Amino acid sequence: MNDKTFTEIKKGYGSFYKDLLRKGKLPLWSTGKGFWGGVIADEVYEAFKKIKLHKHKTFIDLGSGDGKAVLIAALFCKRAVGIEIDNGLYKKSLEMQNKLNIPNAIFFNNDFNDHSISEFDFVFVYPDAPMHRGLEKKLLNELTGKLIHYGHHFHPQNLKAKDKFLVDGNLFTVYTNSNK
Ligand SMILES: C[S@@+](CC[C@H](N)C(=O)[O-])C[C@H]1O[C@@H](n2cnc3c(N)ncnc32)[C@H](O)[C@@H]1O
Repeated sequence: MNDKTFTEIKKGYGSFYKDLLRKGKLPLWSTGKGFWGGVIADEVYEAFKKIKLHKHKTFIDLGSGDGKAVLIAALFCKRAVGIEIDNGLYKKSLEMQNKLNIPNAIFFNNDFNDHSISEFDFVFVYPDAPMHRGLEKKLLNELTGKLIHYGHHFHPQNLKAKDKFLVDGNLFTVYTNSNK
């Protein structure tokens, strides 16, 4: 954890969203495979403290958008990975990583279905589609660590909820896979 870098992350993304709004654009758009909307930095930072993410080594965000959750996770873990299909958002993630000088984050511009998650301690998802359309099958086949799910919507049906809590009214749920 590093409160100073976290404040810089928040500031950096805040300016990005302000720039978009100034151009008349909302920080939300549809992408090649789904829909982008960012997580709230403070909520995620609180949640990562609560789940003691610093005790884990590896983290991956499936659909990492502009990279915010990954860069925050990189303050806790040795290796934080983000996979995003949208090239513009992927480039923004790299830009923010370089600007903030966070070396232990890695971003990939591809489909998360083509990337194994079996070696990750924590898999993060802020889903933009119902899990039964495909992601749940991947989680059941590959998840050996824990899933941290952000939001009230699109929950998995066949994983085991181990913990759930609210941060500023937003729901975080930690799931494990009893298949593994
Ligand atoms: C609700 S946003 C999540 C934002 C992000 N986790 C954050 O930290 O703010 C969902 C993202 O998943 C991406 N996505 C959806 N399906 C995907 C896939 N199959 N492979 C890669 N990215 C995908 C979308 O492009 C979108 O950016």
